[in-house]
Amino acid sequence: MAPRKLIAGNWKMNLLKAEGEALVRALGGSLSGTPKPACDVLVCPPFTLLGALAPLCRETGLALGAQDCHAKSSGAFTGDVAAPMLADAGCSHVIVGHSERRSLHGEDNATVKAKAEAALAAGLVAIVCVGETEAERDSGKAEEIVVAQLLASLPQGASAKTLVVAYEPVWAIGTGRTPTVEQVADMHAALRKALGGVLSDAAGLRLLYGGSVKPGNAAELLAVANVDGALVGGASLSHGDFWAICQSC
Ligand code: G3H
Repeated sequence: MAPRKLIAGNWKMNLLKAEGEALVRALGGSLSGTPKPACDVLVCPPFTLLGALAPLCRETGLALGAQDCHAKSSGAFTGDVAAPMLADAGCSHVIVGHSERRSLHGEDNATVKAKAEAALAAGLVAIVCVGETEAERDSGKAEEIVVAQLLASLPQGASAKTLVVAYEPVWAIGTGRTPTVEQVADMHAALRKALGGVLSDAAGLRLLYGGSVKPGNAAELLAVANVDGALVGGASLSHGDFWAICQSC
């Protein structure tokens, strides 16, 4: 059976405390109303808001996640945040290997794998992101490249309960462009197959699509085989847009 869908909002480096609280309150209000969405809903605010939003998320049934963690559990790493700190702040999930971390902070697959392993060790669900650049898509080898990236980024000891994979084509992030449903279907099928070779419960693992998901294209993307949810950037900052995406499940 396909897993229950997950709609995750990655706020990136946006929103101050009052704005974040207002958004979580609005989402919580929608979640408590009817009809209930056929998905779990996760928000991933900046580190600075986690402590303030944790009690609000708990009250309203929203899951709370962070956008990154360090691979070590503590130490002299100025400016970094460790996975046990995120769990302590009330997070259940953490995104690792987002393309903005890979490209702007030089994170390679080995770093992403180590971060994902740190997340699992802290009891968090790791959302491991993978995706090809436009040049890689144009080369005709996108599936091969993304599968290799995924296998090299996977944490040891992962299972469908502790791991989520997000396929985010780099060229679709924040651009308003999306792959065709056929391209998404082919990539997700390839990722599911590759996961089946290393995880016994790969059929139950959530495979998210991310990259310019909006209310207008969410239903079509979420209906694609092997798409078990979405990782939403820009549209997750608007209650109306994000909630409309949740209702598209
Ligand atoms: O983590 C989210 C992705 O980077 C997608 O961002 O929805 O703004 O394209 P976007």
